Amino acid sequence: MSQNIYPVPEGFAGPNTINAEQYAALYAESVDSPETFWAKAAERLEWFKKPTQIKDTNFDPKNFYTRWFADGELNVSVNCIDRHLATRGDKTAILWEPDSPDTPSQAITYRQLSERVNKLANALRTLGVQKGDRVTVYLPMIPDAAVALLACARIGAIHNVVFGGFSPTSVADRVRDSAAKVIITADEGLRAGRKVPLKANVDAALQQEGTQSIEKVIVLQHTGSDIAWQEGRDVWLHDITASEPAECEPERMNAEDPLFILYTSGSTGKPKGVLHTTGGYLVQAAYTHEAIFDLREDDIYWCTADVGWVTGHSYIVYGPLANGATTLIFEGVPSYPDASRFWQVVDKHLVTIFYTAPTAIRALMREGEELVKKTSRKSLRILGSVGEPINPEAWRWYYDVVGESRLPIVDTWWQTETGAFMIAPIPGAIPTKPGSATKPFFGVQPALVNAEGEFVQGAGEGNLVITDSWPAQARTVYGDHQRFIDTYFSAYPGYYFTGDGARRDEDGYYWITGRVDDVINVSGHRIGTAELESALVQHPKVAEAAAVGFNHDLKGQGIYVYVTLVAGEEPSNELQKELVAHVRKVIGPIATPDFLQWAPALPKTRSGKIMRRILRKIAENAPDQLGDTSTLADPSVVDTLVKERHLT
Ligand code: WTA
Repeated sequence: MSQNIYPVPEGFAGPNTINAEQYAALYAESVDSPETFWAKAAERLEWFKKPTQIKDTNFDPKNFYTRWFADGELNVSVNCIDRHLATRGDKTAILWEPDSPDTPSQAITYRQLSERVNKLANALRTLGVQKGDRVTVYLPMIPDAAVALLACARIGAIHNVVFGGFSPTSVADRVRDSAAKVIITADEGLRAGRKVPLKANVDAALQQEGTQSIEKVIVLQHTGSDIAWQEGRDVWLHDITASEPAECEPERMNAEDPLFILYTSGSTGKPKGVLHTTGGYLVQAAYTHEAIFDLREDDIYWCTADVGWVTGHSYIVYGPLANGATTLIFEGVPSYPDASRFWQVVDKHLVTIFYTAPTAIRALMREGEELVKKTSRKSLRILGSVGEPINPEAWRWYYDVVGESRLPIVDTWWQTETGAFMIAPIPGAIPTKPGSATKPFFGVQPALVNAEGEFVQGAGEGNLVITDSWPAQARTVYGDHQRFIDTYFSAYPGYYFTGDGARRDEDGYYWITGRVDDVINVSGHRIGTAELESALVQHPKVAEAAAVGFNHDLKGQGIYVYVTLVAGEEPSNELQKELVAHVRKVIGPIATPDFLQWAPALPKTRSGKIMRRILRKIAENAPDQLGDTSTLADPSVVDTLVKERHLT
């Protein structure tokens, strides 16, 4: 075998291992007879009413619908908790590793989880939260984040988690769009020893217009610091749960009832509320979690994502708990107190499956091997990667240094909109290649479309589409179904357009090349250029702004913004800092521009459209690749920008 193919490790076998022949047979069945295949797959869940209608979907934008398991009834929290109690009641469901290694970690059994979820679910009902109501969750990485999600699921409330690093404005935008009734937050979060003022952010968010739907703010005491308190609106989580019974009747949910909304950035406008439903989502989240991580009963599974992203939803909370696994929740960051923390946590809790992002791997790689090698990591069995394309160099370092050349790496390609893994190696079946997410999961039918709009046959490159529905697919954009169809099903009518480009090699392996739309993937976080631009033009001194991504050694992509000031305003270092701070304030620190260049004017077509292609090339410092600039209204604009690139 070629050096660039890493075979399935010898003797790799567990109760859930799928080998190459099984993968081929199951994949064929999943696309040839999806009804039979997914009916069987659905049996992994406990249903109040077993589904008899399995797949009922149509991708034609003129008559679009997606229904999976449509006559089935179930409750997600019952699947993630109750059905494990008889056999796994004393098994650790959640292991919590705090921000500081000096704070004791916690282990919460399935039985304890049940009690906490049921009490909170009852408390939510007492506050008047009903099936279908929206609940905003703005919490640190603590077990209560999972408890909050499961409590919502138990009573059929639709949760919307807002990443703890987002600003008050981002919280307000999401509350407004989802018309949430309740927010669950904490006094403060902790990250690398610094306090994150979550409750104060909520207070500021709720001062903003259009947030009156919020009736109660439920506050969890985490750091114990003093916080402002609004009588009548704010309640302590420990107060409202104290006298609630530890049993709560679960809501019978239809498979197609909503489970959650998660906002994500796209090419245009404000973030979209991607809506996921109950049955199909849980079937595929659980199935992929078991198959791709080759789950075993004694695994200690750790996904380092934040619960504020889809990875946290599907692969910290729902997939693992539906499978009765032990899932580790880490409050901190990889570099605190030092850059060996990940591996220390692995050794402390004897983690067997470790799942992180390329950006973290690259950052740790830069700190040198010593910090890894001084730890044992003997417990590890599988390594995973998600969020952005992993460059082969980082892949090899992960493989050789972290995994000591003995552990399979599962590079999982998927999206907020897909709900669960789509392209990823099943470790007992698929030899890996550094940088490739390899082959599609069961039922997933990827295709590549070239510039002429034709399907690429065999090896080649193009825009990645999925040709038929899969169970965990998002069902709509909350409150704007047309936007959902326009965004995902209209570029290539009849197919789901991912927004990613990809290459397929001669072995049928997929290599994701990155976003082909106006989404910048910064450290695995999606940020829309439109969001950045709208944040910048909110500043009174900014007339116009354009944002583009550029290749960044650590983050994958960085943010480069061009700013045109209103007449009479002069560029200055202070103003530059002020504008960067302004973006952080409006969106959050993850949207911090890496570079801000003053642009006396922006390159535009004669019809007034900003030519981002050119701005991207200038940002990448590749002025020789600007291409055709003859369609510009004023080509001299480009010369000025190129000349001044290094001056900022
Ligand atoms: C990118 C995160 C290459 C991709 C789960 C996608 C990846 C976007 C990978 C979705 C991967 C995610 N290889 N690219 N393994 N995983 N991406 O919605 O561009 O936050 O479209 O979901 O991340 O990001 P999202």
